[in-house]
Amino acid sequence: MAERVEIFDTTLRDGEQSPGASMDEHEKLQMAKQLDRLGVDIIEAGFPIASNQEFEAVRKVAKHVENSRVAALARALPADIERAAAALEPARRPVLHTFIATSDIHLEHKLRMTRQEVLDNAAKAVALAKNLVGRVEFSAEDATRSDWGFLVEVTKVAIEAGADVINLPDTVGYTTPGEIRGMFEHVIANVPGSDKVIFSSHNHNDLGLAVANALAAVQGGARQIECTVSGIGERAGNTSLEEVVMAMRTRQDVYDYDCGIDSLELVPSSSLLSKITGLTVPYNKPIVGRNAFAHESGIHQHGMIANRQTYEIMTPESVGRSRSELVLGKHSGRAGLANRSEELGYKLSEPELKTLYEKFIDLADKKKEVYDDDLRMLIVALHNESFEIYHLKDLRTSGNDPAMALVSLRKGEETFTDTAIGDGPVHAACNAIERIVGVSGRLERFDIRATTPGKDALGEAYVTVAFGEKTYKGNGASTDIIQAAVSAYLNAMNKYIALSDSFSPEQV
Ligand code: KIV
Ligand code: ZN
Repeated sequence: MAERVEIFDTTLRDGEQSPGASMDEHEKLQMAKQLDRLGVDIIEAGFPIASNQEFEAVRKVAKHVENSRVAALARALPADIERAAAALEPARRPVLHTFIATSDIHLEHKLRMTRQEVLDNAAKAVALAKNLVGRVEFSAEDATRSDWGFLVEVTKVAIEAGADVINLPDTVGYTTPGEIRGMFEHVIANVPGSDKVIFSSHNHNDLGLAVANALAAVQGGARQIECTVSGIGERAGNTSLEEVVMAMRTRQDVYDYDCGIDSLELVPSSSLLSKITGLTVPYNKPIVGRNAFAHESGIHQHGMIANRQTYEIMTPESVGRSRSELVLGKHSGRAGLANRSEELGYKLSEPELKTLYEKFIDLADKKKEVYDDDLRMLIVALHNESFEIYHLKDLRTSGNDPAMALVSLRKGEETFTDTAIGDGPVHAACNAIERIVGVSGRLERFDIRATTPGKDALGEAYVTVAFGEKTYKGNGASTDIIQAAVSAYLNAMNKYIALSDSFSPEQV
């Protein structure tokens, strides 16, 4: 019988550390619920000592996730560990994940510690964590550049102090499949009690080897893989969850391991992540990229018609692609909309459903078919309303050089209107918004893309706007791309006003 490999998802922690992937508490919760549906064994929700917002986000995920274990990260320091344990307090099945670096380069230049000090700190950290939380994972950061003899020592100490899981990460994406397999075999063979714990592999993708290294680590004895949806993460990212899972499923003859992932949720998970963060998935990304199952050349198409197996090693349906193309129309009705939203994993309250229905009818009026991705976008955008101080009531633009915009914003019962010029219609409209609100921001990132195919597609806009020292993300969606962009800018501005203590309208 195939052996079980646990999937430890770190999209909300290591993934969220990648530029442009930051998520607020509500967004993390939405993604966590999707990960739970996907069937990951562990959701690493964040690093609670980092900020109060991060603490609250981890706490919220811990409270609401039903099946997966929920993990929180802590350095090997008492304050970190106590904070992580407090954030995990509402979790049904918490995991405290503590780490310290073990490579000489980190010891000398970052920690300024001797090996003995690292061993002492690791032992104290694991013992404290184990006192507070039932399951403890210990990570030897930069393990793949550490001395194997020292890795054996630190693993021994962590197990004696009570660790349940030992993670040997390739922090800088430096190792190779043969090497990492050897490292796991060596440590497992030389540590007494290694059969009592689970060994875990956490890989970064700097050389494009993260998935191959994770699979080799499993062959060397690891039984937990740490990974992220779409492979997001520090620098070049982490092991891509969908790739490593489908490699095990498709090549079971080589990798005879089982995991609890529902592969039908792979594409929906990647799609939701991309809607929440605004990060685009490269077209050629395995499993979840737009072209991953597209056959362009005549020879390939001919082969596919004769027998799909000629050019397809797995079916698009098996990774949840067909589901994401289910369509709703204007006549689907409120019950149909509620039903489909629920199938996509959203339990909406009555008032939320009412607002969603209005937006859905509005969209279905403009485009005949509303796809699952359109629906996801509308639901993600519902969240924007919790920040909505200024609401875009009217937008008119004309000309291009310079362009002119007239904007009306509603705030409570009052409506404000102003006009402005700019280098293009979006610039002009943003200038008009700034004149009304009395705040000016600096646009740091602006992406626009179509949600679904077709000339009538919904346009999604993602912006990052700096207000003084702080940056805020905003998103907007509309069949009119200028309106989508302006809504995204206003969304970021609303967040700034709602979340910043330092907002003062005199800042123009
Ligand atoms: O890459 C790494 O080493 C990490 C650890 C904190 C597990 O993310
Ligand atoms: Zn990492």
